Amino acid sequence: MRAIIDELKTTAATTAATDLRAAFSADPQRFRRYSVSLDDLLMDFSKTAVNDRVITLLETLAEEAGVAQKRDAMFSGEAINFTEGRAVLHTALRNRSNQPVLVDGKDVMPDVNGVLAAMAGFANGIRSGSLKGATGRRITDVVNIGIGGSDLGPAMATLALSPFHDGPRAHFVSNVDGAHIADTLKGLDAETTLFIIASKTFTTIETMTNAASARAFIAEKLGDDAVKHHFAAVSTALDKVAAFGIASERVFGFWDWVGGRYSIWSAIGLPLMIAIGTENFGRFLDGAHAMDLHFRDAPVRENLPMLLGLIGFYHRNVLGYPSRAILPYDQRLARFPAYLQQLDMESNGKGVTVDGTPVEGDSGPVVWGEPGTNGQHAFYQLIHQGTSIVPAEFMIAANGFEPHLRHQHELLIANCLAQSEALMKGRTLEEAKAQLTSKGMDEGQAEAIAPHRVFPGNRPSITFVYDQLTPFALGRLIALYEHRVFVEGVLFRINSFDQWGVELGKELATGLLPIVEGKETADDHDSSTAGLVARLLKTRS
Ligand code: F6P
Repeated sequence: MRAIIDELKTTAATTAATDLRAAFSADPQRFRRYSVSLDDLLMDFSKTAVNDRVITLLETLAEEAGVAQKRDAMFSGEAINFTEGRAVLHTALRNRSNQPVLVDGKDVMPDVNGVLAAMAGFANGIRSGSLKGATGRRITDVVNIGIGGSDLGPAMATLALSPFHDGPRAHFVSNVDGAHIADTLKGLDAETTLFIIASKTFTTIETMTNAASARAFIAEKLGDDAVKHHFAAVSTALDKVAAFGIASERVFGFWDWVGGRYSIWSAIGLPLMIAIGTENFGRFLDGAHAMDLHFRDAPVRENLPMLLGLIGFYHRNVLGYPSRAILPYDQRLARFPAYLQQLDMESNGKGVTVDGTPVEGDSGPVVWGEPGTNGQHAFYQLIHQGTSIVPAEFMIAANGFEPHLRHQHELLIANCLAQSEALMKGRTLEEAKAQLTSKGMDEGQAEAIAPHRVFPGNRPSITFVYDQLTPFALGRLIALYEHRVFVEGVLFRINSFDQWGVELGKELATGLLPIVEGKETADDHDSSTAGLVARLLKTRS
């Protein structure tokens, strides 16, 4: 791989489309050549510094790294998460073809379908009002208590699919900060509220603490006996859920081969199913399955996740860009950047290869973003004129859901396309000067001001276009990014499916709690930590 990466570096420096403006002028077919589609989903990567040679080298890189073989190993249930001895089978959760998927010789599909059916029964009961609260009133509000993968997926997707939301109101509590649950409960009536405790391990301190507060809320208002009518749980740790006291018919399981950040397709999606209904949830799974089949079967040059991953690797490890911005032109995708932060950074933020040796070059980039057009009025300045190059990933639907606000959607599209065009084209010093003088500024002043109005251009972006943000389209988009993370992980030669890096902080927090509670001293800690504890305790009431 080293030799190909070196060749890519040389190619990028000498022959790649490093002058994108010139590349577009020289080749009127550039968009056609460097864009690919899956049904109505188009990915335009013509505004990145690629040419045929770069694509060929990236294709060779994928071959050398064994991306296709590793992909097939994932789909077939091999224990590719070797540090935890687990298969990685979120694809089985949306395996709508229902072909058997074997883990240790056992087909997991009957269990997957069984849980989906149980979720549907429960979701329909809550939605129809046949499952009621303890006092016989209909459930109007569902509060999901979970964190990380047990929160971000359903929270992001419920917001994204709000035009399809016809079930009870959905709320998401994640932070251990009591402000989160307190503010959420403030507007809620215990008699009509259902809590879903979502935790793969059912040990996560934030979730267990919030769950205890929720239980106290119900018990205080309606009595202990009411708890069983107002709670459901989602977990792989069924014994721990039972100990919490949630009735078994309200517990929805999943399996250790589902990573937290890949779990939206499992019972973790229950709040989404309650919000949008079982049919729409099925379409959401269908969309992801369509992307799975495409990822599995399409040749590299037509394969969206392969190309997205290869270009991501190229940006990170050949061109050296340390971050990438996720810029959905869709207010309902407001939580998508945060969702991708966990998916990408928890998966590929690693420093050790599968051999246990340090990663050569870099692993995953920093992922960040906000919806356009809000971001335009906040941080786009840096993306356009700052000294760091930030590859941007734009996404836009051809249609919104507000026919009466058609003009606003036109403005949204125009803004999205304008940004990628501006990043690519930039504005030269001459153009800046000419613009100023054409507005009546004298030559001398134009000379002084023009450098501030120069845009370097050549700033890479990828744009995704699709018809509308339906459940199918969202499922497909998430699966696209999941597989992109997979491809990049293989190229970085890391295990994308563990997350040991979150453990140390958790351990130290456990050790610090008795000190913060005033039960122990901070003598064994560094002077900064001890000083901060002392400062906080001094004015605690
Ligand atoms: O932050 C680490 C992590 O394990 C994530 O990977 C996971 O999504 C989150 O915590 C929540 O874990 P659980 O679902 O077990 O409560």
